[in-house]
Amino acid sequence: MAGDEQLTAPAPSADRQVPVSGGPLDRRAPTEPGSTYTGGRVSTEDLATADVTDGVLFKIRDLEVYFPIHQSFVKSLVAPEKKYVKAVDHVSFDVRQGEILALVGESGCGKTTTGRAMLRLEDATGGHIYYKELPVERFSQKTLREYRKKAQIIFQDPYNSINPKQTIFDIVAEPLEVNGLVATEREKEERVVRAINEAGLRPAEEYLYRYPHELSGGQRQRVCIAGATVLDPDVIVADEPVASLDVSIRNDILKLMVEQKEKLGVTYVFITHDLSLAWVISDRIAVMYLGRIVEIGDTEEVVSNPKHPYTKALISVIPVPDPLAKHEHVILSGETPNPVDLPSGCRFHPRCPEAIDACSEIEPTDVHIGGTHYAACIRLT
Ligand SMILES: Nc1ncnc2c1ncn2[C@@H]1O[C@H](COP(=O)(O)OP(=O)(O)O)[C@@H](O)[C@H]1O
Ligand code: SF4
Ligand SMILES: [Mg+2]
Repeated sequence: MAGDEQLTAPAPSADRQVPVSGGPLDRRAPTEPGSTYTGGRVSTEDLATADVTDGVLFKIRDLEVYFPIHQSFVKSLVAPEKKYVKAVDHVSFDVRQGEILALVGESGCGKTTTGRAMLRLEDATGGHIYYKELPVERFSQKTLREYRKKAQIIFQDPYNSINPKQTIFDIVAEPLEVNGLVATEREKEERVVRAINEAGLRPAEEYLYRYPHELSGGQRQRVCIAGATVLDPDVIVADEPVASLDVSIRNDILKLMVEQKEKLGVTYVFITHDLSLAWVISDRIAVMYLGRIVEIGDTEEVVSNPKHPYTKALISVIPVPDPLAKHEHVILSGETPNPVDLPSGCRFHPRCPEAIDACSEIEPTDVHIGGTHYAACIRLT
């Protein structure tokens, strides 16, 4: 589901060996047809000279992240077939430079794993992630360190992701120091103050020597954002960044991200289980279900003209301001199936209100709805 081209993925075979990214078992071709990268390991020089030529910062192609399930010896004798949690199961999409792309779906559908794989905090077991056309799985350790300055992640719980014993100044200065990015104390101070101001803690001087416990949850999340933007990143993967915050301050943090996208040119991958938040903040939405993207497109288009029954169900439960407006809630029956033994055919079929007999047999491929809008449902073909 990348740009205007339709990408379909082969179904994984049951006996598939899970390769180690870049290791001897990795049976992936170094690049996919169409990629401009032809070399071996990606060096820091390759990264420094790489550029965005077609407006696309990331190309994710057929990404697969499987986690092996470790069975007891006795169980493995009874059922020798190795089993995997198919957290991300052949996913393709683009992230355009300067956009906010929301990854939306229920808990456990693979959003975090996708985000972590983009930063190579999780090794992909198949497929490719291209950053500025460079295959992330081929980055050397040195390149990876450089890359992680450009691709940052922030988490749901700001309190757990910062050191409570450090001052705000030290927390925000740390990434600069660790990466050797500042030559003088003065330069460090300037960059820290700027990042804290840009994160909306103004005037920064009032916050520099405070400790995390002296701040509210929203202010702490702003500190985390400052700790990411101080490195002048290209992209921030924000993993449920407002989920643990009070509803009253969520909007302020969302506004900050939009502001940073516009003023600093930061690209955001915004991960959320709440489609109404994605609607407020994102330029495009990718809806995930059980390790797959089932619908993707411009936010207004997906929200006003959803095509996949799962997206329709998510939208139907968004509260509307007008209580008299005609609004039918679609309540999905059943639990999300587990990502080890996936349902046959369309993996949404056991819960789909629009399912027909063929849905349990045919695996849907992406259907082009129009523009950049795609959905994976056999009833759309
Ligand atoms: N390190 C891991 N080992 C095994 N299973 C994992 C691991 N990380 C995630 N999973 C499983 O992968 C699936 C997707 O998880 P995750 O990406 O965290 O989903 P989400 O962020 O959408 O809630 C879940 O079933 C989860 O239990
Ligand atoms: S393919 Fe069938 S089960 Fe899957 S979303 Fe479409 S109608 Fe529902
Ligand atoms: Mg998650």
